Amino acid sequence: MSFKNLISFEEISKNSSNFLDIDSRPNWKEVFGNDNPLNLEIGFGVGNFIIEMGIREPNENFIGMDFYHKGIRKVITRLEKYEINNTRIVYGDAKEKIAFLFNREELNRVYIKFPDPWPKKRHHKRRLIKPSFIKILADKLKCGGEVHIATDYESYAIEILEFFEKECLLSNKNGVGEFLFKKEGIPKTKYEKKFINAGKRIYYLEFTK
Ligand SMILES: C[S@@+](CC[C@H](N)C(=O)[O-])C[C@H]1O[C@@H](n2cnc3c(N)ncnc32)[C@H](O)[C@@H]1O
Repeated sequence: MSFKNLISFEEISKNSSNFLDIDSRPNWKEVFGNDNPLNLEIGFGVGNFIIEMGIREPNENFIGMDFYHKGIRKVITRLEKYEINNTRIVYGDAKEKIAFLFNREELNRVYIKFPDPWPKKRHHKRRLIKPSFIKILADKLKCGGEVHIATDYESYAIEILEFFEKECLLSNKNGVGEFLFKKEGIPKTKYEKKFINAGKRIYYLEFTK
């Protein structure tokens, strides 16, 4: 087993300046040392997308939020290995934290890739994307800012589309009632690659303020 595998989540959270376990809004300009556009990925999993975006877009900043310890450890290790300076990991539940971690109109883009679909009807209430959550995202997005979502789960995709189209601050970039079924030119997440390889249809949704 390598030394890195022995580092605990607790040690990472104490020692890495890329990791933030915070209960109030930091000064993001001070955190990143610049005023570059601020992008948020909610539920980054093992972090393939945010790591690649951080490398590809050095003039933007990226914040990943998740509570999956193993994924956080992997991402922090890779941020340090590749010396990526424009990406930070925030520990926690997006349902609670986004409301106070960002000012109004502070976010440039929000990515939510393959949110847990909670397929059983009695679990639908656990889904992340609800009208109240969309309101918070809309409030935090700057004018011209965007929310990008992907899911393989058709009924969740339809629900997400309906909820977003009811939010008057946002509009569907691809036309009312429309999804994209292909998205080229940006990094793919672990789940995205898995579903594409399995021949599954993916629903991409994009909304702008
Ligand atoms: C199905 S996985 C998708 C991971 C990754 N986005 C991908 O496409 O490979 C969903 C991820 O969202 C995270 N997650 C679920 N609910 C969340 C919440 N309320 N706040 C932050 N992260 C959440 C989970 O821990 C998990 O890492």
